[in-house]
Amino acid sequence: MFEATASAPVNIATLKYWGKRDVNLNLPTNSSISVTLAQDDLRATTTARASSEFAKDELYLNDTLEPLGKRTLQVLAELRALRAEIEQKDPSAPKIADLKLQIVSVNNFPTAAGLASSAAGFAALVKSISLLYKLPHNDSELSVLARQGSGSACRSMFGGYVAWEMGSETNGLDSRAVQIADVNHWPNMKALILVVCAEKKDVSSTSGMQITVETSGLFTERVNTLVPELFVKMKKAILDRDFGSFAKYTMVDSNQFHAVCLDSYPPIFYMNDVSKSAVRAIHELNDQYKEPIAAYTFDAGPNCVVYYLEENEEAVLSHLGQAVSNVNGFPVEKMGSTPASTSTP
Ligand code: DP6
Repeated sequence: MFEATASAPVNIATLKYWGKRDVNLNLPTNSSISVTLAQDDLRATTTARASSEFAKDELYLNDTLEPLGKRTLQVLAELRALRAEIEQKDPSAPKIADLKLQIVSVNNFPTAAGLASSAAGFAALVKSISLLYKLPHNDSELSVLARQGSGSACRSMFGGYVAWEMGSETNGLDSRAVQIADVNHWPNMKALILVVCAEKKDVSSTSGMQITVETSGLFTERVNTLVPELFVKMKKAILDRDFGSFAKYTMVDSNQFHAVCLDSYPPIFYMNDVSKSAVRAIHELNDQYKEPIAAYTFDAGPNCVVYYLEENEEAVLSHLGQAVSNVNGFPVEKMGSTPASTSTP
């Protein structure tokens, strides 16, 4: 029996991936940037085993046997092909490429966090099997495989601040993640998840982005003009630890992503009224301070991720706390987090 274990963190995009130029390979229509949530319980951990005793490939997710989806099969086939190359070149390497795999993945994300597990899950799967197969590839090269499982998974191959460079090659080999800076680069950066709804989203990202690509006129403007500019500016803001600019670009991008969703036909709504009250509350707070001290971003769902600097934590939490209690029936659970960590108050 051969065995290896690896884990990967959750990432939240501050410059969103939305749109594929190749659906099969998950090649995006724009580059994106994410900040990694690095609290211990926001990771997926996967153990991969290969043995002649296994009759077929099996995937267990939190102790439940899951069917192997098309994307998982594609990623497994790629990993096996890379191992087979090693075995071909080096006859002394153990012959494990053809052995069946048992993949056991666990994540203990608090259900209340309403976070999708696929990005961290695919990244941990690729990491664990690449260790099992002793692949010589670096994390950026492996991110090309994780990307084929789920686009955003490529960014979970790293911690800290990560860019997914869209690339231009048709085979997707240059569409991969690179680390902009590690978590220690900006130690006072924190994140908070306002959980509006922990249920699964209505329209999956995969189908939502196809509707947008096919029907939204604003989308062309977004991918050709706004995102390329923001990609450069946001990277610089991160490297300069310029919170005001980082916050503004993050909010502008989130707003525009949800605008192209609304511009899709039929329109896609991810944010609800509670999400909108969080947006209002954060702008109100930033207006009071005459500069952004907090930034919101929303993925394909109503939950709000708030970024702020540690020194402003009290101001942000108390203002959001008030805003939360001012909105009738605001069913929000708060979770504090740094790109370094997360906690439930
Ligand atoms: C809004 O990576 O889940 O979170 O590639 O189809 O699996 P697939 O989509 P997925 O989409 C993520 C969309 C997003 C923005 C982002 O994470 O960049």
